[in-house]
Amino acid sequence: MKIFNTIAELQSELNSHRDEKIALKVGLVPTMGNLHKGHISLVNIARQHADIVVVSIFVNPTQFGVGEDFDSYPRTLDDDLAQLKTAGADIVFAPSVNEMYPTYPPNVQVLSGGMAQILCGKSRPTHFDGVGLVVGKLFNIVRPDVAIFGKKDYQQLAIIRQLNDELNFGIKIIGAEIVRADDGLALSSRNGYLTPDKRAIAPVINQTLQKIKADILTADFENYANIMQKYHNDLTNLGLTVDYLELYNDRLQAPTPDDKNLVVLTAVFVGKARLLDNLEITL
Ligand code: PAF
Repeated sequence: MKIFNTIAELQSELNSHRDEKIALKVGLVPTMGNLHKGHISLVNIARQHADIVVVSIFVNPTQFGVGEDFDSYPRTLDDDLAQLKTAGADIVFAPSVNEMYPTYPPNVQVLSGGMAQILCGKSRPTHFDGVGLVVGKLFNIVRPDVAIFGKKDYQQLAIIRQLNDELNFGIKIIGAEIVRADDGLALSSRNGYLTPDKRAIAPVINQTLQKIKADILTADFENYANIMQKYHNDLTNLGLTVDYLELYNDRLQAPTPDDKNLVVLTAVFVGKARLLDNLEITL
């Protein structure tokens, strides 16, 4: 496994592989490090679709708002590298902020429209602009054939698909299933912020999504709103702060009676940790 900190070194390595093999398939797994089994599942998927797997590790400052956890976001490079070596990644790209953004703040922005303003975008209004910018840069730097993103960040995945389509990157975007702990909690780097007592109640998030799914599957469309309100109240009554608990169709639009593919999405504060989860529902 080779590790590069500069764009020039990374591209020189990728070019030499491309010179050696016609139609070389490059897979990209963008991460912010602090890797867990969810990230490793993305690497495993990338290996099935590509000859060379590039994993980027970059805590991207443009996707953190003022007062968010950019400075304290866990940086665990040595452990990440050990996991990636075991997982069979070929190349790790771990640039500095200056390498990615020689001009800071950058002049160019990537705005993602309405899809970036709902759900997480309501409380993190600039977050997806930063995600779109850094993912667009990584796409241009690596020029992958395939890129893998986790479905835990369902809204992010939808926004990246839109970026790929509207800016004509032509990359195959694969959404990977959520990896969960045995008790159902979706794996996330931010689970590390949970104290033991908060970790004990966090599985209620997934349990709630499962109950909503069961109810929606047997309900009429007119009752969806009541179901969502009931479970919102249940989470609040447990002392949790619900940022959102919403039902959308799989294009992240308000569902209509004709929609068959739905998704229930939530962000819940459990202590200091803001945890995301979602569950797809096929009617
Ligand atoms: O999902 C993440 O870890 C980040 O948002 C991403 C896609 C690596 C962009 O910084």
